[in-house]
Amino acid sequence: MTKLNAHAAARSGGLRLDRPIVLVGMMGSGKTTIGRRLARRLRLRFADADAEIEQAASLSIGEIFAQYGEASFRDGERRVIHRLLRAGPSIIATGGGAFAQDATRRDILDHGISVWIDVPLDILVERTAKRNTRPLLRSGNPEDILRNLMTQRAPAYEQADIRVACGPAPHAQAVEAIVEAVRAHLA
Ligand code: S3P
Repeated sequence: MTKLNAHAAARSGGLRLDRPIVLVGMMGSGKTTIGRRLARRLRLRFADADAEIEQAASLSIGEIFAQYGEASFRDGERRVIHRLLRAGPSIIATGGGAFAQDATRRDILDHGISVWIDVPLDILVERTAKRNTRPLLRSGNPEDILRNLMTQRAPAYEQADIRVACGPAPHAQAVEAIVEAVRAHLA
């Protein structure tokens, strides 16, 4: 381990991280909230890929979808995640579709520790109903859309290094489960 990495490990709650922890999973699974708390817990930087895309484009996700389409959004998402993966140890929250994109998933698998936050459909439905910022949920019945996306994306999410099953328990519990799962993964 290099001196730099040893310092990073000392800071990161004893976890010897040399790469980012990347949270993947469906919309409404809590990636951003859990990611922020996890970053605080491990004293690492936090990056939200969606927020970075919005900042780079000076547009909201809804505006990017409306003006340029999903393919263009996915391209921006791939480039932003590529950059974040190379910025040293950190916590990265990704948008729900990122890990279902082949190139983005490969990059995350090669350069990060991926954690699938696996949350049951009913909780996703309840949580996503609180905000109207997700363009993919506007084109029909959100529950049906989420169910279909879950089915389509499950084979991708299953490739994550770590799966943490999260129910309605407080996010603090998910944070501790992730810390322990990453510790076991690195052991
Ligand atoms: C998407 C999820 C969103 C955002 C975009 C597309 C998806 O992120 O990237 O609306 O394809 O599942 P969250 O998972 O943070 O809601």
